[in-house]
Amino acid sequence: MAKRYLTTPIYYVNAEPHIGHAYTNLATDTLARYYRLKGDEVFFLTGTDEHGEKVEHTAKEQGQEPQNFVDGVVKTFQQLWDDLELTHSDFIRTTDQRHVKAVQQIFQQLYDQGDIYLDTYEGPYCIHCEAYWTAGRLDEEDNCPDCHREVKYISEESYFFRLTKYLPELQKYLEENPDFVRPEGRYNEVLKLLDQGVEDLSISRTKFSWGIPVPFDTEHVVYVWFDALLNYLSGIGYPGAEFSQWWPPEIQIIGKDILRFHAVFWPCMLMALDLDLPRRIHAHGWWTLRGDKISKSLGNVVDPRDLADRYGKDALRYFLLKRIPFGADGTLSDQDIVEVINGDLANNLGNLVNRSLTMVKKFADGVIPQQPEQATDNDLSNLAQKIRAEFIDEMENASFDRALKAIFQLVAETNRWLQEKAPWKLNRETDGEQLDFILYNICESINEVAYLIEPVMPDSSAQIRQRLGLTEKNKAPLNERSWGELQGGEKITIGQPLFPRIDR
Ligand code: MSP
Repeated sequence: MAKRYLTTPIYYVNAEPHIGHAYTNLATDTLARYYRLKGDEVFFLTGTDEHGEKVEHTAKEQGQEPQNFVDGVVKTFQQLWDDLELTHSDFIRTTDQRHVKAVQQIFQQLYDQGDIYLDTYEGPYCIHCEAYWTAGRLDEEDNCPDCHREVKYISEESYFFRLTKYLPELQKYLEENPDFVRPEGRYNEVLKLLDQGVEDLSISRTKFSWGIPVPFDTEHVVYVWFDALLNYLSGIGYPGAEFSQWWPPEIQIIGKDILRFHAVFWPCMLMALDLDLPRRIHAHGWWTLRGDKISKSLGNVVDPRDLADRYGKDALRYFLLKRIPFGADGTLSDQDIVEVINGDLANNLGNLVNRSLTMVKKFADGVIPQQPEQATDNDLSNLAQKIRAEFIDEMENASFDRALKAIFQLVAETNRWLQEKAPWKLNRETDGEQLDFILYNICESINEVAYLIEPVMPDSSAQIRQRLGLTEKNKAPLNERSWGELQGGEKITIGQPLFPRIDR
Protein backbone atom coordinates (compact mmCIF):
# COMPACT_ATOMS: atom_id res chain seq x y z
CA MET A 1 0.00 0.00 0.00
CA ALA A 2 1.49 3.33 -1.04
CA LYS A 3 1.99 5.94 1.64
CA ARG A 4 1.29 9.57 0.85
CA TYR A 5 2.20 12.50 2.99
CA LEU A 6 0.29 15.72 2.16
CA THR A 7 0.76 19.12 3.75
CA THR A 8 -0.84 22.56 3.84
CA PRO A 9 0.95 25.72 4.92
CA ILE A 10 0.58 26.41 8.62
CA TYR A 11 -1.42 29.58 9.18
CA TYR A 12 -0.44 32.72 11.02
CA VAL A 13 -2.58 33.19 14.07
CA ASN A 14 -2.55 36.98 14.04
CA ALA A 15 -6.01 36.76 12.50
CA GLU A 16 -8.91 34.36 12.24
CA PRO A 17 -9.19 32.00 9.29
CA HIS A 18 -10.90 33.10 6.08
CA ILE A 19 -11.94 31.60 2.77
CA GLY A 20 -8.39 31.83 1.35
CA HIS A 21 -7.10 29.55 4.10
CA ALA A 22 -10.10 27.27 3.71
CA TYR A 23 -9.40 26.96 -0.02
CA THR A 24 -5.93 25.55 0.59
CA ASN A 25 -7.20 23.12 3.19
CA LEU A 26 -10.24 21.99 1.20
CA ALA A 27 -8.05 21.30 -1.81
CA THR A 28 -5.60 19.30 0.27
CA ASP A 29 -8.46 17.45 1.92
CA THR A 30 -9.75 16.57 -1.53
CA LEU A 31 -6.40 15.11 -2.52
CA ALA A 32 -6.18 13.22 0.77
CA ARG A 33 -9.59 11.70 0.09
CA TYR A 34 -8.58 10.90 -3.47
CA TYR A 35 -5.52 8.93 -2.36
CA ARG A 36 -7.60 7.11 0.24
CA LEU A 37 -10.08 6.24 -2.48
CA LYS A 38 -7.18 4.63 -4.31
CA GLY A 39 -6.52 2.58 -1.21
CA ASP A 40 -3.34 4.45 -0.25
CA GLU A 41 -2.40 5.30 3.31
CA VAL A 42 -2.47 9.03 3.85
CA PHE A 43 -0.98 11.41 6.37
CA PHE A 44 -2.50 14.85 5.93
CA LEU A 45 -0.93 17.57 8.06
CA THR A 46 -2.12 21.08 8.75
CA GLY A 47 -1.54 23.48 11.64
CA THR A 48 -0.65 26.95 12.83
CA ASP A 49 2.38 29.22 12.65
CA GLU A 50 2.40 30.94 16.00
CA HIS A 51 5.72 32.73 16.50
CA GLY A 52 7.22 35.93 15.14
CA GLU A 53 7.12 39.66 15.43
CA LYS A 54 3.73 40.04 13.77
CA VAL A 55 1.98 37.71 16.20
CA GLU A 56 3.81 39.32 19.13
CA HIS A 57 2.56 42.77 17.98
CA THR A 58 -1.02 41.63 17.58
CA ALA A 59 -1.03 39.98 21.01
CA LYS A 60 0.32 43.18 22.54
CA GLU A 61 -2.29 45.29 20.75
CA GLN A 62 -4.92 43.10 22.33
CA GLY A 63 -3.32 43.38 25.73
CA GLN A 64 -2.53 39.68 25.97
CA GLU A 65 0.48 37.49 26.53
CA PRO A 66 1.44 35.90 23.21
CA GLN A 67 0.82 32.36 24.46
CA ASN A 68 -2.66 33.23 25.72
CA PHE A 69 -3.44 35.04 22.55
CA VAL A 70 -2.36 32.21 20.24
CA ASP A 71 -4.17 29.59 22.35
CA GLY A 72 -7.36 31.53 21.67
CA VAL A 73 -6.96 32.00 17.92
CA VAL A 74 -5.80 28.44 17.31
CA LYS A 75 -9.17 27.19 18.51
CA THR A 76 -10.91 29.12 15.72
CA PHE A 77 -8.78 27.32 13.13
CA GLN A 78 -9.35 23.92 14.70
CA GLN A 79 -13.07 24.56 15.00
CA LEU A 80 -13.34 25.65 11.39
CA TRP A 81 -11.59 22.54 10.09
CA ASP A 82 -13.88 20.41 12.25
CA ASP A 83 -16.97 22.25 11.00
CA LEU A 84 -15.85 21.72 7.43
CA GLU A 85 -15.24 18.04 8.26
CA LEU A 86 -11.68 17.97 7.05
CA THR A 87 -9.86 14.68 7.36
CA HIS A 88 -6.41 15.84 8.49
CA SER A 89 -4.37 13.30 10.43
CA ASP A 90 -2.78 15.80 12.77
CA PHE A 91 -2.67 19.47 13.61
CA ILE A 92 0.76 20.88 14.40
CA ARG A 93 1.30 24.07 16.36
CA THR A 94 4.73 25.66 16.32
CA THR A 95 4.37 26.17 20.06
CA ASP A 96 4.02 22.38 20.57
CA GLN A 97 6.95 20.99 22.53
CA ARG A 98 7.53 18.31 19.88
CA HIS A 99 8.08 21.09 17.35
CA VAL A 100 10.24 23.31 19.57
CA LYS A 101 12.47 20.33 20.33
CA ALA A 102 12.86 19.40 16.67
CA VAL A 103 13.69 22.99 15.64
CA GLN A 104 16.33 23.34 18.33
CA GLN A 105 17.86 20.01 17.49
CA ILE A 106 18.05 20.89 13.79
CA PHE A 107 19.47 24.34 14.50
CA GLN A 108 22.17 22.76 16.64
CA GLN A 109 22.95 20.11 14.05
CA LEU A 110 23.30 22.61 11.21
CA TYR A 111 25.47 24.80 13.40
CA ASP A 112 27.69 21.87 14.35
CA GLN A 113 28.13 20.87 10.73
CA GLY A 114 29.11 24.42 9.77
CA ASP A 115 25.95 25.36 7.84
CA ILE A 116 25.01 28.09 10.32
CA TYR A 117 27.30 31.01 11.20
CA LEU A 118 27.06 34.26 13.14
CA ASP A 119 27.17 37.63 11.33
CA THR A 120 25.23 40.89 11.19
CA TYR A 121 22.07 41.47 9.21
CA GLU A 122 21.50 44.92 7.83
CA GLY A 123 18.64 45.66 5.51
CA PRO A 124 14.92 45.95 5.01
CA TYR A 125 12.48 43.60 6.71
CA CYS A 126 8.75 43.29 6.10
CA ILE A 127 6.99 42.40 9.33
CA HIS A 128 3.76 41.57 7.57
CA CYS A 129 5.40 38.94 5.34
CA GLU A 130 8.06 38.19 7.96
CA ALA A 131 10.52 38.46 5.08
CA TYR A 132 14.01 39.85 4.59
CA TRP A 133 14.66 41.78 1.40
CA THR A 134 17.62 43.37 -0.24
CA ALA A 135 17.28 47.08 -1.06
CA GLY A 136 17.35 46.35 -4.79
CA ARG A 137 14.29 44.09 -4.56
CA LEU A 138 11.94 46.65 -2.97
CA ASP A 139 9.10 48.15 -5.04
CA GLU A 140 9.20 51.61 -6.62
CA GLU A 141 8.21 53.24 -3.36
CA ASP A 142 10.80 51.26 -1.46
CA ASN A 143 8.09 49.14 0.11
CA CYS A 144 7.83 45.35 0.37
CA PRO A 145 7.67 43.96 -3.18
CA ASP A 146 5.09 41.35 -2.07
CA CYS A 147 2.56 43.18 0.08
CA HIS A 148 3.68 46.78 -0.68
CA ARG A 149 3.72 47.75 2.97
CA GLU A 150 6.41 49.84 4.56
CA VAL A 151 9.53 47.89 5.47
CA LYS A 152 11.61 48.38 8.57
CA TYR A 153 15.40 48.69 8.35
CA ILE A 154 17.02 46.40 10.80
CA SER A 155 20.58 46.02 11.82
CA GLU A 156 21.24 43.21 14.23
CA GLU A 157 23.51 40.33 14.98
CA SER A 158 22.05 37.25 13.38
CA TYR A 159 22.77 33.64 12.63
CA PHE A 160 22.81 32.84 8.93
CA PHE A 161 22.04 29.63 7.10
CA ARG A 162 24.57 28.84 4.37
CA LEU A 163 21.88 28.66 1.72
CA THR A 164 24.23 29.57 -1.11
CA LYS A 165 26.21 26.38 -0.55
CA TYR A 166 23.18 24.39 -1.72
CA LEU A 167 22.09 26.56 -4.63
CA PRO A 168 24.03 24.71 -7.36
CA GLU A 169 22.49 21.45 -6.19
CA LEU A 170 19.03 23.03 -6.17
CA GLN A 171 19.55 24.47 -9.64
CA LYS A 172 20.53 21.04 -10.93
CA TYR A 173 17.60 19.40 -9.17
CA LEU A 174 15.17 21.85 -10.74
CA GLU A 175 16.59 21.30 -14.19
CA GLU A 176 16.28 17.55 -13.82
CA ASN A 177 12.84 17.67 -12.20
CA PRO A 178 10.68 20.21 -13.98
CA ASP A 179 7.64 18.77 -12.20
CA PHE A 180 9.04 19.62 -8.79
CA VAL A 181 7.18 22.93 -8.77
CA ARG A 182 3.71 23.15 -10.28
CA PRO A 183 2.10 24.74 -12.23
CA GLU A 184 4.68 25.45 -14.88
CA GLY A 185 4.46 29.23 -14.50
CA ARG A 186 5.54 28.92 -10.88
CA TYR A 187 8.40 26.62 -11.83
CA ASN A 188 9.66 29.31 -14.19
CA GLU A 189 9.26 31.89 -11.47
CA VAL A 190 11.56 29.86 -9.23
CA LEU A 191 14.20 29.66 -11.95
CA LYS A 192 13.95 33.42 -12.31
CA LEU A 193 14.37 33.92 -8.59
CA LEU A 194 17.55 31.88 -8.71
CA ASP A 195 18.77 33.90 -11.70
CA GLN A 196 18.25 37.11 -9.77
CA GLY A 197 20.56 35.78 -7.10
CA VAL A 198 19.87 34.50 -3.63
CA GLU A 199 21.95 35.15 -0.54
CA ASP A 200 22.54 33.28 2.68
CA LEU A 201 19.46 33.48 4.85
CA SER A 202 19.36 35.31 8.14
CA ILE A 203 17.66 32.85 10.50
CA SER A 204 17.63 34.47 13.92
CA ARG A 205 16.44 37.71 15.50
CA THR A 206 17.38 39.46 18.71
CA LYS A 207 15.01 42.43 18.88
CA PHE A 208 11.95 40.60 20.14
CA SER A 209 11.43 37.42 22.08
CA TRP A 210 8.35 35.56 20.82
CA GLY A 211 10.07 32.65 19.14
CA ILE A 212 12.05 29.50 19.72
CA PRO A 213 15.34 30.30 21.51
CA VAL A 214 18.49 29.35 19.62
CA PRO A 215 19.72 26.46 21.80
CA PHE A 216 23.31 27.66 22.22
CA ASP A 217 22.63 31.42 22.26
CA THR A 218 19.38 32.32 23.96
CA GLU A 219 19.65 36.04 23.12
CA HIS A 220 18.43 34.93 19.70
CA VAL A 221 15.09 33.50 18.64
CA VAL A 222 14.79 31.43 15.46
CA TYR A 223 13.49 33.35 12.41
CA VAL A 224 9.81 32.52 12.05
CA TRP A 225 10.06 31.05 8.53
CA PHE A 226 12.96 28.79 9.46
CA ASP A 227 10.89 27.67 12.44
CA ALA A 228 7.65 27.29 10.45
CA LEU A 229 9.02 25.27 7.52
CA LEU A 230 10.32 22.68 9.93
CA ASN A 231 6.73 21.84 10.94
CA TYR A 232 6.67 19.53 7.94
CA LEU A 233 9.29 17.44 9.71
CA SER A 234 8.21 17.77 13.34
CA GLY A 235 4.56 17.11 12.42
CA ILE A 236 5.36 13.50 11.52
CA GLY A 237 7.76 12.86 14.36
CA TYR A 238 11.18 13.84 13.00
CA PRO A 239 13.64 12.24 13.48
CA GLY A 240 11.82 9.13 14.77
CA ALA A 241 10.69 5.95 13.03
CA GLU A 242 7.25 7.32 12.19
CA PHE A 243 8.93 10.11 10.27
CA SER A 244 10.84 7.81 7.91
CA GLN A 245 7.62 5.95 7.12
CA TRP A 246 6.05 9.06 5.61
CA TRP A 247 8.93 11.09 4.24
CA PRO A 248 9.10 12.56 1.57
CA PRO A 249 5.80 14.37 1.00
CA GLU A 250 3.79 13.36 -2.05
CA ILE A 251 2.70 16.96 -2.48
CA GLN A 252 2.97 20.19 -0.53
CA ILE A 253 0.15 22.58 -1.28
CA ILE A 254 0.88 26.28 -0.85
CA GLY A 255 -0.41 29.64 -2.06
CA LYS A 256 1.61 31.47 -4.72
CA ASP A 257 2.57 34.11 -2.15
CA ILE A 258 4.88 31.74 -0.32
CA LEU A 259 6.59 30.11 -3.28
CA ARG A 260 10.06 31.52 -2.56
CA PHE A 261 10.10 30.08 0.94
CA HIS A 262 8.97 26.64 -0.21
CA ALA A 263 10.79 26.28 -3.48
CA VAL A 264 14.12 27.91 -2.62
CA PHE A 265 14.75 28.05 1.14
CA TRP A 266 13.00 24.82 2.05
CA PRO A 267 14.75 22.50 -0.44
CA CYS A 268 18.12 23.93 0.59
CA MET A 269 17.30 23.26 4.25
CA LEU A 270 16.39 19.69 3.35
CA MET A 271 19.60 19.22 1.41
CA ALA A 272 21.58 20.42 4.40
CA LEU A 273 19.75 17.84 6.51
CA ASP A 274 20.43 15.20 3.89
CA LEU A 275 16.72 14.50 3.39
CA ASP A 276 14.89 13.79 0.15
CA LEU A 277 12.97 16.68 -1.37
CA PRO A 278 9.18 16.58 -1.58
CA ARG A 279 7.91 15.01 -4.79
CA ARG A 280 5.92 18.11 -5.72
CA ILE A 281 5.19 21.59 -4.53
CA HIS A 282 1.98 22.95 -5.95
CA ALA A 283 1.26 26.67 -5.65
CA HIS A 284 -2.33 27.76 -6.11
CA GLY A 285 -3.65 31.24 -6.86
CA TRP A 286 -5.55 33.77 -4.83
CA TRP A 287 -9.22 34.33 -4.36
CA THR A 288 -10.06 37.95 -4.76
CA LEU A 289 -13.13 39.97 -3.97
CA ARG A 290 -13.86 42.73 -6.47
CA GLY A 291 -10.22 42.73 -7.51
CA ASP A 292 -8.59 42.70 -4.06
CA LYS A 293 -6.92 39.74 -2.42
CA ILE A 294 -9.05 38.50 0.44
CA SER A 295 -7.15 39.22 3.61
CA LYS A 296 -7.62 40.52 7.10
CA SER A 297 -5.56 43.62 6.46
CA LEU A 298 -7.80 44.65 3.57
CA GLY A 299 -10.82 44.12 5.78
CA ASN A 300 -12.66 42.03 3.20
CA VAL A 301 -12.50 38.59 4.78
CA VAL A 302 -15.15 36.09 3.86
CA ASP A 303 -15.99 33.55 6.53
CA PRO A 304 -15.99 30.08 4.98
CA ARG A 305 -18.61 29.01 7.50
CA ASP A 306 -21.08 31.60 6.18
CA LEU A 307 -20.63 30.26 2.66
CA ALA A 308 -20.92 26.66 3.81
CA ASP A 309 -24.08 27.46 5.76
CA ARG A 310 -25.61 29.34 2.90
CA TYR A 311 -24.76 26.97 0.06
CA GLY A 312 -23.79 23.68 1.67
CA LYS A 313 -20.32 22.29 2.31
CA ASP A 314 -20.22 20.11 -0.78
CA ALA A 315 -21.42 22.87 -3.07
CA LEU A 316 -18.77 25.21 -1.66
CA ARG A 317 -16.03 22.63 -2.24
CA TYR A 318 -17.29 22.01 -5.74
CA PHE A 319 -17.42 25.70 -6.59
CA LEU A 320 -13.92 26.47 -5.32
CA LEU A 321 -12.32 23.54 -7.11
CA LYS A 322 -14.30 23.64 -10.35
CA ARG A 323 -14.42 27.35 -10.98
CA ILE A 324 -10.70 27.93 -11.61
CA PRO A 325 -7.68 25.81 -12.47
CA PHE A 326 -5.67 24.99 -9.36
CA GLY A 327 -2.94 27.57 -9.80
CA ALA A 328 -4.95 30.44 -11.26
CA ASP A 329 -6.58 33.34 -9.42
CA GLY A 330 -10.34 33.53 -9.05
CA THR A 331 -12.94 36.06 -8.05
CA LEU A 332 -15.47 35.17 -5.44
CA SER A 333 -19.04 36.29 -5.95
CA ASP A 334 -22.39 35.02 -4.81
CA GLN A 335 -23.65 35.32 -8.33
CA ASP A 336 -21.01 32.90 -9.64
CA ILE A 337 -21.61 30.46 -6.82
CA VAL A 338 -25.35 30.43 -7.48
CA GLU A 339 -24.75 29.98 -11.19
CA VAL A 340 -22.52 26.96 -10.63
CA ILE A 341 -24.91 25.40 -8.12
CA ASN A 342 -27.97 25.87 -10.29
CA GLY A 343 -26.22 24.80 -13.47
CA ASP A 344 -23.87 21.91 -12.75
CA LEU A 345 -25.32 20.67 -9.50
CA ALA A 346 -29.08 21.24 -9.60
CA ASN A 347 -29.85 21.07 -13.33
CA ASN A 348 -27.34 18.46 -14.37
CA LEU A 349 -26.32 16.11 -11.58
CA GLY A 350 -29.27 16.55 -9.22
CA ASN A 351 -31.74 16.30 -12.03
CA LEU A 352 -30.17 13.19 -13.53
CA VAL A 353 -30.25 11.39 -10.21
CA ASN A 354 -33.82 12.37 -9.51
CA ARG A 355 -35.08 11.58 -12.96
CA SER A 356 -33.39 8.20 -13.13
CA LEU A 357 -34.49 7.04 -9.71
CA THR A 358 -38.04 8.12 -10.47
CA MET A 359 -37.94 5.92 -13.58
CA VAL A 360 -36.67 2.96 -11.60
CA LYS A 361 -39.60 3.45 -9.29
CA LYS A 362 -42.08 3.78 -12.11
CA PHE A 363 -40.84 1.12 -14.51
CA ALA A 364 -39.22 -1.40 -12.15
CA ASP A 365 -41.08 -1.13 -8.88
CA GLY A 366 -38.23 0.76 -7.23
CA VAL A 367 -35.77 -2.11 -7.57
CA ILE A 368 -32.65 -1.89 -9.75
CA PRO A 369 -32.93 -4.56 -12.47
CA GLN A 370 -30.50 -7.48 -12.50
CA GLN A 371 -27.21 -6.76 -14.17
CA PRO A 372 -27.78 -7.67 -17.82
CA GLU A 373 -25.14 -9.56 -19.77
CA GLN A 374 -24.28 -6.63 -22.05
CA ALA A 375 -23.95 -4.38 -19.00
CA THR A 376 -20.20 -4.26 -19.02
CA ASP A 377 -19.74 -3.49 -22.68
CA ASN A 378 -21.87 -0.79 -24.17
CA ASP A 379 -21.31 2.79 -25.23
CA LEU A 380 -22.17 4.22 -21.82
CA SER A 381 -20.06 1.79 -19.82
CA ASN A 382 -17.15 2.28 -22.20
CA LEU A 383 -17.37 6.01 -21.88
CA ALA A 384 -17.49 5.73 -18.08
CA GLN A 385 -14.29 3.64 -18.03
CA LYS A 386 -12.58 6.20 -20.22
CA ILE A 387 -13.71 9.01 -17.98
CA ARG A 388 -12.53 7.20 -14.88
CA ALA A 389 -9.05 6.98 -16.40
CA GLU A 390 -9.15 10.67 -17.30
CA PHE A 391 -10.29 11.55 -13.80
CA ILE A 392 -7.33 9.65 -12.33
CA ASP A 393 -4.87 11.41 -14.64
CA GLU A 394 -6.19 14.83 -13.73
CA MET A 395 -6.33 14.16 -10.01
CA GLU A 396 -2.74 12.92 -10.05
CA ASN A 397 -1.85 16.42 -11.29
CA ALA A 398 -4.12 18.16 -8.78
CA SER A 399 -6.11 19.47 -11.78
CA PHE A 400 -9.36 19.49 -9.88
CA ASP A 401 -11.26 21.59 -12.41
CA ARG A 402 -10.43 19.18 -15.23
CA ALA A 403 -11.13 16.11 -13.11
CA LEU A 404 -14.57 17.53 -12.34
CA LYS A 405 -15.13 18.45 -15.94
CA ALA A 406 -14.52 14.83 -16.87
CA ILE A 407 -17.07 13.61 -14.31
CA PHE A 408 -19.61 16.11 -15.53
CA GLN A 409 -19.09 14.97 -19.07
CA LEU A 410 -20.30 11.59 -17.88
CA VAL A 411 -23.29 13.28 -16.25
CA ALA A 412 -24.15 15.07 -19.50
CA GLU A 413 -23.63 11.95 -21.62
CA THR A 414 -25.76 9.87 -19.29
CA ASN A 415 -28.53 12.42 -19.59
CA ARG A 416 -28.16 12.33 -23.35
CA TRP A 417 -28.09 8.51 -23.46
CA LEU A 418 -31.24 8.37 -21.38
CA GLN A 419 -32.93 10.81 -23.71
CA GLU A 420 -31.88 8.79 -26.74
CA LYS A 421 -32.92 5.44 -25.30
CA ALA A 422 -36.20 6.90 -24.07
CA PRO A 423 -37.23 4.11 -21.71
CA TRP A 424 -40.59 5.84 -21.25
CA LYS A 425 -41.52 4.76 -24.76
CA LEU A 426 -40.96 1.09 -24.01
CA ASN A 427 -43.45 -1.43 -22.82
CA ARG A 428 -42.48 -3.85 -20.05
CA GLU A 429 -44.49 -6.71 -21.61
CA THR A 430 -42.72 -6.61 -24.95
CA ASP A 431 -39.44 -4.71 -24.29
CA GLY A 432 -38.70 -5.83 -20.73
CA GLU A 433 -35.08 -6.78 -21.42
CA GLN A 434 -34.25 -3.50 -23.13
CA LEU A 435 -35.98 -1.53 -20.40
CA ASP A 436 -33.95 -3.31 -17.70
CA PHE A 437 -30.76 -2.79 -19.70
CA ILE A 438 -31.34 0.95 -19.83
CA LEU A 439 -32.35 1.35 -16.21
CA TYR A 440 -29.45 -0.73 -14.98
CA ASN A 441 -26.89 1.21 -16.97
CA ILE A 442 -28.27 4.57 -15.99
CA CYS A 443 -28.09 3.60 -12.34
CA GLU A 444 -24.56 2.25 -12.69
CA SER A 445 -23.53 5.44 -14.42
CA ILE A 446 -24.92 7.51 -11.56
CA ASN A 447 -23.10 5.22 -9.19
CA GLU A 448 -19.88 5.83 -11.12
CA VAL A 449 -20.39 9.59 -10.82
CA ALA A 450 -21.13 9.28 -7.10
CA TYR A 451 -18.01 7.19 -6.59
CA LEU A 452 -15.75 9.63 -8.44
CA ILE A 453 -17.04 12.83 -6.84
CA GLU A 454 -16.38 11.51 -3.35
CA PRO A 455 -13.11 13.40 -2.80
CA VAL A 456 -14.75 16.69 -3.75
CA MET A 457 -18.30 16.13 -2.49
CA PRO A 458 -18.18 13.42 0.16
CA ASP A 459 -21.68 13.92 1.55
CA SER A 460 -23.41 14.03 -1.81
CA SER A 461 -21.49 10.96 -2.91
CA ALA A 462 -22.64 8.97 0.11
CA GLN A 463 -26.19 10.25 -0.35
CA ILE A 464 -26.42 9.12 -3.96
CA ARG A 465 -24.94 5.74 -3.21
CA GLN A 466 -27.36 5.31 -0.36
CA ARG A 467 -30.27 6.11 -2.65
CA LEU A 468 -28.98 3.42 -5.00
CA GLY A 469 -29.09 0.97 -2.11
CA LEU A 470 -25.29 0.85 -1.74
CA THR A 471 -23.21 1.37 1.36
CA GLU A 472 -19.71 2.71 1.74
CA LYS A 473 -18.63 -0.70 3.02
CA ASN A 474 -16.74 -2.98 0.67
CA LYS A 475 -16.27 -0.18 -1.83
CA ALA A 476 -13.53 -1.30 -4.24
CA PRO A 477 -10.44 0.94 -4.39
CA LEU A 478 -10.30 3.19 -7.42
CA ASN A 479 -7.65 1.26 -9.33
CA GLU A 480 -9.54 -2.00 -8.97
CA ARG A 481 -12.89 -0.58 -9.79
CA SER A 482 -14.83 -1.77 -12.82
CA TRP A 483 -18.26 -1.10 -14.22
CA GLY A 484 -20.89 -3.24 -12.55
CA GLU A 485 -20.72 -2.63 -8.81
CA LEU A 486 -24.51 -2.69 -8.74
CA GLN A 487 -25.67 -6.27 -8.68
CA GLY A 488 -29.31 -5.59 -9.36
CA GLY A 489 -31.97 -6.12 -6.75
CA GLU A 490 -30.97 -2.99 -4.76
CA LYS A 491 -33.95 -1.06 -3.52
CA ILE A 492 -33.74 2.61 -4.40
CA THR A 493 -34.95 5.66 -2.48
CA ILE A 494 -35.85 8.85 -4.32
CA GLY A 495 -35.48 11.37 -1.48
CA GLN A 496 -35.39 15.15 -1.54
CA PRO A 497 -33.59 17.02 -4.34
CA LEU A 498 -29.84 16.74 -3.70
CA PHE A 499 -29.11 20.30 -4.77
CA PRO A 500 -32.17 22.52 -4.58
CA ARG A 501 -32.11 25.37 -7.07
CA ILE A 502 -31.32 28.71 -5.50
CA ASP A 503 -33.47 31.70 -6.42
CA ARG A 504 -31.33 34.73 -6.98
N1 MSP B 1 2.55 31.15 8.07
C1 MSP B 1 2.86 31.27 6.70
C2 MSP B 1 3.04 29.90 6.07
C3 MSP B 1 4.06 29.03 6.70
S1 MSP B 1 4.13 27.46 5.97
C4 MSP B 1 5.49 26.76 6.56
C5 MSP B 1 1.75 32.03 6.00
N2 MSP B 1 0.55 32.03 6.59
S2 MSP B 1 -0.75 32.80 6.07
O1 MSP B 1 -1.75 32.54 7.06
O2 MSP B 1 -0.45 34.16 5.80
O3 MSP B 1 -1.18 32.23 4.71
C6 MSP B 1 -0.99 30.92 4.34
C7 MSP B 1 -1.70 30.53 3.09
O4 MSP B 1 -3.08 30.88 3.11
C8 MSP B 1 -1.26 31.10 1.76
O5 MSP B 1 -0.10 30.62 1.23
C9 MSP B 1 -2.38 30.60 0.93
O6 MSP B 1 -2.21 29.21 0.80
C10 MSP B 1 -3.58 30.85 1.80
N3 MSP B 1 -4.23 32.12 1.48
C11 MSP B 1 -4.29 33.25 2.23
N4 MSP B 1 -5.05 34.17 1.58
C12 MSP B 1 -5.49 33.68 0.41
C13 MSP B 1 -6.39 34.09 -0.59
N5 MSP B 1 -6.95 35.26 -0.59
N6 MSP B 1 -6.67 33.21 -1.58
C14 MSP B 1 -6.16 31.94 -1.59
N7 MSP B 1 -5.33 31.54 -0.66
C15 MSP B 1 -4.84 32.41 0.26
O7 MSP B 1 1.98 32.55 4.93
